[in-house]
Amino acid sequence: MIRQLCYLSTMSKGLDGTGLARVTSGALRFNETMQITSLLAFGGDMFFQVIEGPRDNVAAAFARICRDPRHHSFRLLQDEAVAGRDFEFCPLVVRTLDTSAIAGLDGLVSASAIPAIIAGIVSPFGSTLLKQMAKAA
Ligand SMILES: Cc1cc2nc3c(=O)[nH]c(=O)nc-3n(C[C@H](O)[C@H](O)[C@H](O)COP(=O)(O)O)c2cc1C
Repeated sequence: MIRQLCYLSTMSKGLDGTGLARVTSGALRFNETMQITSLLAFGGDMFFQVIEGPRDNVAAAFARICRDPRHHSFRLLQDEAVAGRDFEFCPLVVRTLDTSAIAGLDGLVSASAIPAIIAGIVSPFGSTLLKQMAKAA
């Protein structure tokens, strides 16, 4: 069984392209070694992340995530055992988040609702920010 956990959080003030690049490179390294697959989307001052993998590894990743001062005010959306991964072979997919579409997301939703939610709020990563992050990394 795979555990899939999904949350929203608010970016800490002052987090820029360099800070985001540090977050993603640290996350990628850890996820690769822990069989974690993940989607991380950000937009406005919000993060949306899905993490999935073996139960204890997801717990370890989420503990790291919650300790990170670069974000706060977590809203847990989902934490369930699922039959399979939504992001197989992807230790960290990075995308843009449509913040206008997340306003209604409050409280826990079922794992089966997650793919539709992702389709509604996440879009391919903007090239400007991608270039900025590549330079900073
Ligand atoms: C929005 C966000 C998403 C994160 N996602 C992950 C993740 O998927 N996996 C992980 O291990 N850590 C994740 N982290 C935690 C940081 O990557 C980690 O604390 C940071 O890279 C420090 O790593 P270090 O202790 O190796 O320096 C995340 C942090 C933030 C702010």
